[in-house]
Amino acid sequence: MELPPQLRRAVDHMLSGTTLAELATAAAALSQRYREERRDGKLHISSDKDALAYLAVRLPATFAAIRASFAAIAAARPDFAPKTALDVGSGPGTALWAAVDCWPDLAEALLIEASPIFRAWGERLAAEVYPPQITWRIVDIAEENIDCAPGDLVTLAYVLNEIDPDIRRPVLQQLWRVTADVLVIIEPGTPAGWQRILTARRQLIESGAHVIAPCPHAYACPLQPPDWCHFVGRVARSRLHRLAKDATVPWEDEKFSYIAVSRKPAAAAAARVIARPRKASGRVTLKLCRHDGSAGEQLFSRRDGALFKRASRSHWGSSL
Ligand SMILES: C[S@@+](CC[C@H](N)C(=O)[O-])C[C@H]1O[C@@H](n2cnc3c(N)ncnc32)[C@H](O)[C@@H]1O
Repeated sequence: MELPPQLRRAVDHMLSGTTLAELATAAAALSQRYREERRDGKLHISSDKDALAYLAVRLPATFAAIRASFAAIAAARPDFAPKTALDVGSGPGTALWAAVDCWPDLAEALLIEASPIFRAWGERLAAEVYPPQITWRIVDIAEENIDCAPGDLVTLAYVLNEIDPDIRRPVLQQLWRVTADVLVIIEPGTPAGWQRILTARRQLIESGAHVIAPCPHAYACPLQPPDWCHFVGRVARSRLHRLAKDATVPWEDEKFSYIAVSRKPAAAAAARVIARPRKASGRVTLKLCRHDGSAGEQLFSRRDGALFKRASRSHWGSSL
């Protein structure tokens, strides 16, 4: 996946005034904070350098993850065409750019962010990308209620892990309250990220939400540790991204876990592909999470006819 050209150009423009050495140092420090899931009362992005490092090395990856989850939602709910969006913990507006890419009719967005520095960089980006009408609010959702009209699409991307575990439940309650249709929560695709998604999933189902992706059911998750449900978004690396991360390959695979729920049910998929398909001549093995709440591997061969063709075309994350 490539960033949309306008966003790519805007990000490159923002980064043009910074040196590679500065970017690499800030990116390494930021990655360390994220890896440790540090919650020390400080925001991870507290300087311009942090924000620029995020634009260079994290925004492309979180964009890929968010966009992939939106693709699954669009497939599950072809009727869903959001006009309004609410993005909480918006950072530079990543989820909004992914939403506009998926649903071009999106007209209005409210972006809530605790870091004034991040918001400022988000505003600069927005000025170059010509997005929908945006309202920004500096709000710490740990301290203040989210007070706004319900949005068609509500997103919380890579934020839950930064929120104190004790207040995640009331924050999710608030998000569900301001969801007119679809709420999506995305976390890093680690076992810990998946556990946070599972807890959110249980809470939202109890609140009456319909699961629309990735699970093809609302039963308890059939996966058991050390296994965990996660997906991968592949994003092309710019030259600067490659150099800042000292990486050799021209792409990055971003692992993510997510849950998308809605106030309206979606037509149920038979199954979701939950690992990379293993393909051999005339055969494909898929790891599936199924409509009946079970999960496991299934072999498809040419004898399965049309089903084999569909299985061969499927990818990690698609529904079957
Ligand atoms: C990892 S960034 C994700 C940014 C963006 N959603 C993305 O996916 O690229 C997490 C964001 O959540 C924001 N955040 C963390 N805690 C918050 C809080 N209590 N209230 C509002 N925003 C918060 C941070 O400032 C940061 O911008």
